[in-house]
Amino acid sequence: AEPLKVALLGCGVVGSAVARRLVDDASDLAARVGAPLELIGVAVRDLDKPRPASGVPQDLLTTDAEALVAKADLVVELMGGIEPARSLLLRAIDHGASVVTANKALLGADGPQLYEAADARGVDLSFEASVAGAIPLLRPLRESLAGDSVQRVMGIVNGTTNFILDKMDRTGAALADVLAEAQQLGYAEADPTADVEGHDAQAKAAILASLAFHTRVSTGDVHCEGIMGITADDIRDARKIGCTVKLLAICERTADGVSARVHPTLVPRSHPLASVREAFNAVFLETELAGELMFYGQGAGAQPTASAVLGDLVQAARHKVDGGRGPGESAYAALPILPIDQA
Ligand code: NDP
Ligand code: HSE
Repeated sequence: AEPLKVALLGCGVVGSAVARRLVDDASDLAARVGAPLELIGVAVRDLDKPRPASGVPQDLLTTDAEALVAKADLVVELMGGIEPARSLLLRAIDHGASVVTANKALLGADGPQLYEAADARGVDLSFEASVAGAIPLLRPLRESLAGDSVQRVMGIVNGTTNFILDKMDRTGAALADVLAEAQQLGYAEADPTADVEGHDAQAKAAILASLAFHTRVSTGDVHCEGIMGITADDIRDARKIGCTVKLLAICERTADGVSARVHPTLVPRSHPLASVREAFNAVFLETELAGELMFYGQGAGAQPTASAVLGDLVQAARHKVDGGRGPGESAYAALPILPIDQA
């Protein structure tokens, strides 16, 4: 089959790991897809920045993301932020490219615009890496559980804050001392206040609630409290009563509608969520037919996130080869979203 042209937007923590696999394992990926994946270019801001981890030849780097997108069959967006990511993805969809993104900030703010554009154009829009890193969670929600009814989603969906709270719990360290370590390990967002203020988990809760309840929940619909106020004393006090502190995202379907919230929570040490260490994530689902399901794995970092991105890319590429399509998100039930003060 003809090669499929892949454009990569962003070559930072995650983009470098994705590029490395595309460059090093091209023949394996071609066998899985049924056609070669040809990396035609990588959009970055700074052409002179060294990117040894990526393996990308210098002549593939460009600052002209728009021109790159216009030539691609598949676009992988790993730049982050709302603009220019949104315009570039809409442009890619408009050209008929399938798109993969890990950008929860964008999906939480403007997911419906992207879902509708992709459905109207008949292309895939996949975003497994946007929530809980490597954990296959969104595909089960969008596909395996499409005939069930999810009642509740509860989870640790931010690796940085879990890393910080876990370190504080085990060593007695102060929050500020541990944040720098999470940043060095590549877990934190470009602006780490998005992690510690809870906004990253808030966007993820909006994505989860939208998929779980087949409705439209935006980041602004999610009550949000971060961990900045948590002190070493709070963690010690929690320990004295047999608890640990976790930042939880909780999304529920109630008789009145859908609610979603993110806040630090006292979790008894006997609960499975209490044992989630470092930057790992874990998500519980309660559904009408399947009952309880638990998903666990690495929620952040270069390679775990690249795993989810590449899974989406291979799947979207297979659809380009066989003419199939992933699940669309245009069809939804207009369930009432409960105001934040009732969440
Ligand atoms: P980085 O900040 O490490 O990388 C961002 C990349 O995008 C850089 O290569 C940067 O270029 C490029 N870029 C940014 N803005 C522009 C622009 N306007 N034009 C061209 N290139 C641009 O981010 P991450 O890799 O950590 O994250 C990428 C995405 O993945 C984000 O949406 C993030 O939320 C998401 N994500 C991250 C995870 C993680 O563990 N890091 C986990 C799950 C999702 P340059 O290098 O020249 O500065
Ligand atoms: N900053 C995010 C986290 C990256 O710490 O979970 C993964 O989405």
